[in-house]
Amino acid sequence: EKGGFSSFMDKEIHDQPQAVGDTLLGRFDTEGKLSLDEMHIDENVLKSIDKIVVVACGTAAYAGQVAKYAIEHWCRIPVEVELAHEFRYRDPVVNEKTLIVAISQSGETMDTIMAVRHARQQGAKVIAICNTFGSTIPRESDAVLYTHAGPEIAVASTKAFLSQVVACYLLGLYLAQLRGNKFRDEIALILKDLQTIPEKIQRILDEGKDQVLGLARRNEDVGSVLFLGRHVGYPVAMEGALKLKELAYIHAEGFAAGELKHGPIALIDDGQLVIIVVPSKRGRDSLHAKVISNIQEVRARGANTVVIAEEGDEDVREFASEVIYVPETSTLLAPLLTTVPLQIFAMELATAKGLDVDQPRNLAKSVTVE
Ligand code: M6R
Repeated sequence: EKGGFSSFMDKEIHDQPQAVGDTLLGRFDTEGKLSLDEMHIDENVLKSIDKIVVVACGTAAYAGQVAKYAIEHWCRIPVEVELAHEFRYRDPVVNEKTLIVAISQSGETMDTIMAVRHARQQGAKVIAICNTFGSTIPRESDAVLYTHAGPEIAVASTKAFLSQVVACYLLGLYLAQLRGNKFRDEIALILKDLQTIPEKIQRILDEGKDQVLGLARRNEDVGSVLFLGRHVGYPVAMEGALKLKELAYIHAEGFAAGELKHGPIALIDDGQLVIIVVPSKRGRDSLHAKVISNIQEVRARGANTVVIAEEGDEDVREFASEVIYVPETSTLLAPLLTTVPLQIFAMELATAKGLDVDQPRNLAKSVTVE
């Protein structure tokens, strides 16, 4: 049931601290090392893989995009992310050395099922990341890492997404551990940071929700919203845009911020709402400065800039119409926090327009046809 919330989606957004906590639970041994009992794939096989291909659709594919940044960095294995329906019908290069990661909340998405079947026929091993116990995708995979988000009823995925991202991190860290990683200290830090995520999400829900609600209400009549991000902020931007399309029926696009000058900047006109996901200042390779200059670029062309940034980041204020702060965390874990205001924004905007946020038009919770 809705547990006192006005919609399942609202409830599920508030379930997220628990969903993330439960997905982490029981996956560490007494020394704090990752132990994934359900990983029924021979360790030698996992050590010998030379490529990972994530297959998924919609929001689950965005979780896969986040996974790419993390797993490539920690494991030094190339990771491709494929929309399952595109993967299946383009004669992909997969073999015994390929590890397929099939991400699906329902485990019944037909496009993803077909991709899994095709990959296994080519000799690839498949790990499912799934939220629905005993569903088709886990049954047809070699191993499964369950997300413990609990049932997700609202059509728009929220807590399943965050749990998928967590499961992807666990998989990446596990593979790094197995393959003798070079980033031991960084990984220990990440594992510690992961444990603090539930309380940080809770803080966003407790302290940030009203601000986002106000923002949504003020933008009820907006005709188009652009979302920008770099690095792991890029899939977050696409997820923010998808939520808004699905729930509020507003035209929205997520772009890699670096791509702006290669075309999308032509869209910026007076008053265009642009939501920018800013990476941590402590992050690598001056990404922060690059995103700040992207904000300046759109601002100079009249955009209304709403910025999602890390607490303490004062540099963004000058160029932002509004800043939504989220707690600090490691760069790679940031999607677990920055996504939350975007979910709330889409939900509240749809609510302000009088729309049904649990059952948006034309959509089904699980797409069981190709
Ligand atoms: O059940 P699945 O995770 O396989 O579903 C995949 C997509 O259909 C799903 O994420 C869809 O994009 C959601 N409506 C997004 O909110």
